[in-house]
Amino acid sequence: MENDKKILFSAIQPSGIPTIANYIGAIRNWLRLQDEYNCIYSIADLHCLTVEREPKDLREKSLELLALYIACGVDPQKTCLFMQSHVPAHAELTWILNTITYPGELSRMTQFKDKSRKHAQNVNMGLMDYPVLMASDILLYNTAVVPIGEDQKQHLELARDLAVRFNNKYGETFSVPEPIIPKVGARIMSLQDPLHKMSKSDANENGFISLSDDKDAVMRKFKRAVTDSGSEIRFAEDKPGVSNLLSIYSAFSGKSIAEAEKEFAGVGYGEFKLAVAEAVESVLSGIREKKKQLLADRAYLDGIMTEGAETARRLSGRMLSKVYRKVGLYTPKRDK
Ligand code: TYM
Repeated sequence: MENDKKILFSAIQPSGIPTIANYIGAIRNWLRLQDEYNCIYSIADLHCLTVEREPKDLREKSLELLALYIACGVDPQKTCLFMQSHVPAHAELTWILNTITYPGELSRMTQFKDKSRKHAQNVNMGLMDYPVLMASDILLYNTAVVPIGEDQKQHLELARDLAVRFNNKYGETFSVPEPIIPKVGARIMSLQDPLHKMSKSDANENGFISLSDDKDAVMRKFKRAVTDSGSEIRFAEDKPGVSNLLSIYSAFSGKSIAEAEKEFAGVGYGEFKLAVAEAVESVLSGIREKKKQLLADRAYLDGIMTEGAETARRLSGRMLSKVYRKVGLYTPKRDK
């Protein structure tokens, strides 16, 4: 991290096994930008506590997510990989940023409104404050860019607003981060309901393909995927199911949407869905195999996250000290 490359920060919640939507919306860009930036990737386990979780499951999913990052191609030699909860500055900066955040900004957030509806029995302060924790994640590292899917754009906007607001109030402190959102695949939809986004916590498992699904599940879920009326395979607003499948195909095959449309001209839905499934499976089979090997070596994964947390604590500690100084928290002079 001691070079002059800019910082890229991103994270995923271990709220389930990542889906192909997380892969297309975020991870693909992580891989593409790995050499261009100093990359920091966190496992956002503190974020996960905002809805009911089985503690044992959260622990297992967190480790599995680290294995998946690496299995997808994130290089632990080149990047900093850590668990959010291992780096106290994330929660500490959240407190400071809370003091410049207005409740109205948080209650307006689309995700807060959606999740409040979905978890009506448990609308807690953490659920509402979630975007401030996310802003802290990002702002602690002088982050220049944040690769994310469309659904996190509103949260990124808040991070930018808070950076500017803090800088105006206390003097230049934070960099203002830019989102990196893919042109195709920024919002992958459920295979069962193409009007709703694909989500790893969907109760209907047929709606998503997780990065751990086996070949049978991948083939079966695509076979059952909802398409639209008509028979043409073309990307269009009135064809949300087919357009979604074309986006997935484009992401996994590396072909453009136009090339894919040409390839499937005159082809039936059944054959088209099979081709999408095969393109996805050809990438997923490698990821599954690598993940299995990694999970068999727990000491290796523990080592990576321990080292990552040390680096993250060092970098974030510097920023937090600066913030504490700026806001007027007293620090005793130490004799050297
Ligand atoms: P999460 O865990 O819900 O999703 C991880 C990443 O996947 C993207 N994504 C999608 N992209 C395309 N289509 C979809 N249907 C889709 N669903 C999810 C998300 O936009 C995200 O990039 N709050 C974040 C995690 C987080 C974070 C951060 C991200 C915590 N701190 C700091 C960036 C920077 C979240 O819940 O993502």
